[in-house]
Amino acid sequence: MQLKNDLLIRAAKGEAVERTPVWLMRQAGRILPEYRAVRESLSGFKELVETPDLAAEVTIQPVDILDVDAAIIFSDILVVPEAMGCTYEMVEKRGPLFPNTIRSEADMKKLRVADPHEHLNYVLEAIKVTKRALNGRVPLIGFAGAPWTILAYMVEGSGSKTFSHARGMLYTNPKLAHQLLRMITDTTIAYLQAQVQAGANLIQVFDSWAGILSPAHYREFALPYISEICDAINEVPVTVFAKGAFFALEDFSKLNCETIGLDWNMEVAKARQQVGPNKTLQGNMDPCLLYSSFDTIERETKKMLQEFGPQRHIANLGHGVYPDTDPEKVKCFVQTVKEYGGVISE
Ligand code: CP3
Repeated sequence: MQLKNDLLIRAAKGEAVERTPVWLMRQAGRILPEYRAVRESLSGFKELVETPDLAAEVTIQPVDILDVDAAIIFSDILVVPEAMGCTYEMVEKRGPLFPNTIRSEADMKKLRVADPHEHLNYVLEAIKVTKRALNGRVPLIGFAGAPWTILAYMVEGSGSKTFSHARGMLYTNPKLAHQLLRMITDTTIAYLQAQVQAGANLIQVFDSWAGILSPAHYREFALPYISEICDAINEVPVTVFAKGAFFALEDFSKLNCETIGLDWNMEVAKARQQVGPNKTLQGNMDPCLLYSSFDTIERETKKMLQEFGPQRHIANLGHGVYPDTDPEKVKCFVQTVKEYGGVISE
């Protein structure tokens, strides 16, 4: 299926674009009343994730309503630990909870390397349904969590400010941490390859908890596994988004991936210097900009476009859009990129 709008793919590959593409991390689900309507008719978040027709419906909502240049499949990074045998619950207003954490050799014995076709088929089905419904309008992004971030949830058992159990394991039982990272990586590679086979046009790896590791631990426990994932996905462009990993930008320049995501703590010019000219950069507006007036959003978005320049940039926020953001403000961000991305001279 030929894509009618392939700006995202061309920008990722470093090909010339007539305009900067734009989408938002966490665009599906968090902010749209249309999402809440679907969600409230169900037993919970997991029913939505596990029902391909409904997952496809909420995946496409932001394309229709926000006019973004890409869809991202409605799912969660936590489906991977679940497929491995570590189930999660999504607790209303609190977030994810794992009743059984992984903290010992005995806990590890309960896990398996998952077969995506057997244990994650609902995601692959959702991708196929979405692709059919999109009919080439925009590319579909597939995704997974980076192994360190997935380990963090499996060991900690929930969200946390410190992830002290997970970080602690890197000191107290590094061997066990590596064993777990190995299983997560093997599962993730097979899962992402299956997503590509099902029709994903680009893959993004989310290392949401990169920023809590020391640079040395990041290089030992995170980077090698991300690098393996990048090496294993060859048919479509790969984006690595590691929140807070400003210290690793030079390491990222060596990854076998097309795009590096930046958060708003990172200076664009410095990041460009560290990542080098051969990768596309994605980001990096502070999601809080979208609490401000339409005028401020337009002014700051133009400034961001100027900083990145018109090529090798995918406009996005520096992290997921916050749940209490007015969709009209998101539309303003998207429309400003569409109007000025590629027009503003360097
Ligand atoms: O980007 C998209 O819109 C696609 C769907 C998507 C979800 N989660 C749906 C979701 C994606 C890409 C994710 C990724 C994800 N999930 C990450 C990495 C990105 C990031 O934000 O750092 C992480 C760390 C998670 C884990 C997770 N899932 C948490 C901590 C929570 C609770 C709080 C929250 O973020 O909303 C979730 C739940 C979740 N995942 C919701 C949605 C729409 C809200 C659940 C609901 O509707 O009740």
